[in-house]
Amino acid sequence: MQIRSIGETIGAEVIGLNLKQHLGAETIETLKDLLTRHIALVFRDQILTPPEYAKAVEIFGEPMHSQYAAEFAIDGSPMVTTVSNQHWDKFGNRVKHGQIWHSDQTHRKNPPNFTSLYGVTIPGVGGDTGILNTRDGYESLPEEMKSRLDKMVMHNLVSSGRARLADSTKNFILAPDEIAKPGRSHPLIRVHPEAGTKAIYFHALKIDHIDGMSPEETREFIKGLLGEIETPKFIYRHKWLKNDLLIWDNRSALHQAFFDYDLSQERLLQRIIIKGTPPFGPAMPYQEDAANA
Ligand SMILES: [Fe+2]
Repeated sequence: MQIRSIGETIGAEVIGLNLKQHLGAETIETLKDLLTRHIALVFRDQILTPPEYAKAVEIFGEPMHSQYAAEFAIDGSPMVTTVSNQHWDKFGNRVKHGQIWHSDQTHRKNPPNFTSLYGVTIPGVGGDTGILNTRDGYESLPEEMKSRLDKMVMHNLVSSGRARLADSTKNFILAPDEIAKPGRSHPLIRVHPEAGTKAIYFHALKIDHIDGMSPEETREFIKGLLGEIETPKFIYRHKWLKNDLLIWDNRSALHQAFFDYDLSQERLLQRIIIKGTPPFGPAMPYQEDAANA
């Protein structure tokens, strides 16, 4: 197994590993450490059926149901959902999965630790997945800004929050009982439970407001914050090849899909999210009861 850095501050490619093969405990620990450190890992040329894909990512944790499982789950593999540019909502609009910086499912008490994507059908040019290192991004900010961010609590809604930075087409495909679920408050700065590092954490569609700010003020604040850290130094853009397996740590990064390509060409990925624990940080300290609930 060889490791190759693929971004300035984020991303590593793992070479020479077939994820269908049994991996020893030492290798699994090494991979987990690499994922924490590099935030995103790439495994090329993995020939995996949906059940094999689900089995392969279990080395990083237990797969969990997506909120879109009913709509996009693969028959026989309920933890694997499809991410396609050929999905349409009930009004005939193209569903743009993940079109803006976010961390997955921030409306949940236990958002996923990791998200993985697997390349099935890739457009000729473009359609990258971007991963933004909000750990080093946070550390790059002035001290007074960091201490201000440390105090912030954000509130998220399951569909789309009032401070959203774009409109969500997924609102129209969520089941009413899903939309009716209560939102969830999380710290804007979360601490990585294993590494102890801090990172900026939000979902730019689900965010409704930050405590003490109106939704409009929240939107402007989030835009400004992104403006500080959205630089090539902190971004890994994954240029997809068929049979790529990409996985990243949602506790240290945001991600988005770039819709900068010919949308008539199919882009089909498979996605698995891995169970997580309640986010905690300076504004919302760790609670053992919550973690065990
Ligand atoms: Fe996502």
